[in-house]
Amino acid sequence: MAESKLVIEGGHPLQGEIRIQGAKNSVLPLLSAVVLCDEDVVLERCPALSDVYAASRILTHLGCRCSFRDGKMEIRNGGISRSEIPEAMMHEMRSSITFLGPLLSRTGSCTLYLPGGCELGPRPIDMHLHALRQMGAEIHETHGMLRLQGRLRGADLHLPFPSVGATENIMLAAVLAQGRTRIHNAAREPEIRDLAEFLAACGAKISGAGTDTVIIDGVERLHGCVYRVMPDRIAAATYLSAAAAAGGSVCIQDCCPEDLTAVTEVLRQMGCRVYCHESRIYLQSSLPLHAAPYIRTMPHPGFPTDAQALLMAAHCKARGSCMFEETIFDSRYRHVDDLIRMGADIRLSGRAAVVHGVQKLSGTTVHATDLRGGAAMLIAGLTAEGVTELTELSHLDRGYEDPEGVLRSLGAKIERIT
Ligand code: EPU
Repeated sequence: MAESKLVIEGGHPLQGEIRIQGAKNSVLPLLSAVVLCDEDVVLERCPALSDVYAASRILTHLGCRCSFRDGKMEIRNGGISRSEIPEAMMHEMRSSITFLGPLLSRTGSCTLYLPGGCELGPRPIDMHLHALRQMGAEIHETHGMLRLQGRLRGADLHLPFPSVGATENIMLAAVLAQGRTRIHNAAREPEIRDLAEFLAACGAKISGAGTDTVIIDGVERLHGCVYRVMPDRIAAATYLSAAAAAGGSVCIQDCCPEDLTAVTEVLRQMGCRVYCHESRIYLQSSLPLHAAPYIRTMPHPGFPTDAQALLMAAHCKARGSCMFEETIFDSRYRHVDDLIRMGADIRLSGRAAVVHGVQKLSGTTVHATDLRGGAAMLIAGLTAEGVTELTELSHLDRGYEDPEGVLRSLGAKIERIT
């Protein structure tokens, strides 16, 4: 595919209403969960993202037929006819790892490949593998290839850290396993709740999703369902941060304000007016913003690591200083270099980054270092003087559905050029 770039003319406030896309980090495990179902599945509010297409290619390879139109993914599930996923497909997206639990559970023996490291640094899957072994899986790992076999049974599992992916993989492995599985210190991210609701709609027995103990009682089979994917809280955080930084007033419709409390709290500290009503968030921002003193990323309900880069971009021109502490990933400050090139004053030291607000940012050519880093550069471009060109959009397209269209509908001057 030809290399595209986004060209952003900064300095225009954002105004208007938008609807939020379906959540990338929910729809991907839901697509893995389809492997467990005997019948067809329809996912509504399915976002048009390159990671979603990669997951549907894996499902097609395994024997399903997927069709996607107008935000609806229909998966015809005539039975899983293969038990291996080729290396290239596994490498296409990190979250292919959530096929591990369901494919083993469904086939009793499968071969997959490690998804490998990524832009955020090494991404180990030791917790996923340890839990599956406790559930009765035999796992052989050679040169990045994983061979798994065994009939899974329920187990009492204690996660050393509330990993989102491990919690999802265990839930997916446990729904058809024999007996009861308890996950202690489970992740409490809203996407876990969405996965549990989807699985319950297919006939699974799950309780406690969204708390730190999830209990799954194995059932004989899962049927199909029609399910509406939850709204993407990080996409909502992205457009809220953009409006905060660029100034103006926006209404985000079809989102879940409770899932965004940690983010809206910071936006309020920065001087924005934020009102939540049912599934809407209204934000009004009069510049200049004021720096929030300290932002520390934590598992949900703490401040999400996925919003760290977004709020950092929004802080570049705020009055005062903000200290960020990234506690979830080792390498999640790769956007900082380009922010500095645009004129930001940011000092990095290990897990900490201190942003001192500056008077102006200047547009230049920057690149999307990773998905949220790319979104941060978009936000910085909206607030910069002159024109910003954002390249390496493949990262951005993994998680945002038509970001330039959404921002243009709010009055931003932004074009995609191929
Ligand atoms: N970890 C381990 N061993 C494991 C699993 C995780 O050491 O077996 C470590 C990771 O290396 C990381 C920490 O635990 O340092 C948290 O990882 P977690 O498993 O919670 O994250 P994930 O499931 O790999 C999901 C999202 C990420 C999001 C994180 C944290 C998806 C597809 N990805 O990743 O989303 O940042 O949870 O909330 O759901 C993004 O959308 O840009 C993104 C990276």
